[in-house]
Amino acid sequence: MQLHLSTWQEVEAYLERATAIIVPIGSTEQHGPNGLIGTDAICPEVVARGVGDEEDALVGPTISVGMAQHHLAFPGSITLRPSTLIACVSDYVDSLMRHGFEGVYFLNGHGGNIATLNAAFSEIYASASLGHSSRRVRLSLTNWWDGPEVRRVSRELYSGIEGSHATPSEVSLSYYAYPDAVKSATFEPRVAPSGRFRDAEDYRRRFPDGRIGSDPSGASPQAGERLFHAAVRDVRNDYRAFAAGGR
Ligand code: NI
Repeated sequence: MQLHLSTWQEVEAYLERATAIIVPIGSTEQHGPNGLIGTDAICPEVVARGVGDEEDALVGPTISVGMAQHHLAFPGSITLRPSTLIACVSDYVDSLMRHGFEGVYFLNGHGGNIATLNAAFSEIYASASLGHSSRRVRLSLTNWWDGPEVRRVSRELYSGIEGSHATPSEVSLSYYAYPDAVKSATFEPRVAPSGRFRDAEDYRRRFPDGRIGSDPSGASPQAGERLFHAAVRDVRNDYRAFAAGGR
């Protein structure tokens, strides 16, 4: 059940039987020579919809732009500053709490969001702890790629070439969601360099085609379908425990 395809009466009825909601959060940033700029938003969104269908869970609108300052030397990348993303997440949560939602389950598609999302959670909890808000909310952050089933399938398909950015797994999952957008490209070197980075210029100097440690040349919609089902299994179990108040 998707929020943007529902009426307010349907949301009111949902709140009679559930108080948790899934909110996909991603990024709009370069993903190497064959990865879509929307990869990090597309992946959690498609997994969230799969979980929503199986669990009768409401899926909120995707936060499609995240904290991606380090990708800005590549055309098309957009970032929110950490402080802007914290404000954005806080306003989403406050809006949902006003209607009676008590649990917001963020399904994340971008490693660069993790620190800022956790800071946003701390801000929101601090408001309650300091007495500035009488409402209580439970927040959760889950990365779609972190579950045991996804890790098992990724290892089987892409052992040693997964890397950490523009990974063959995330590119495959985005191709499964949008098979008409599959790209082909040449890769030099075949496996991208690995390492750390600071700002956008530093990132582009170290990782000239945008990838980190990966070889996504073998990404495919078929692999993406396997990863989709694995991710839905992982996230479904995790969400179910969260919605029941167990974590
Ligand atoms: Ni990504």
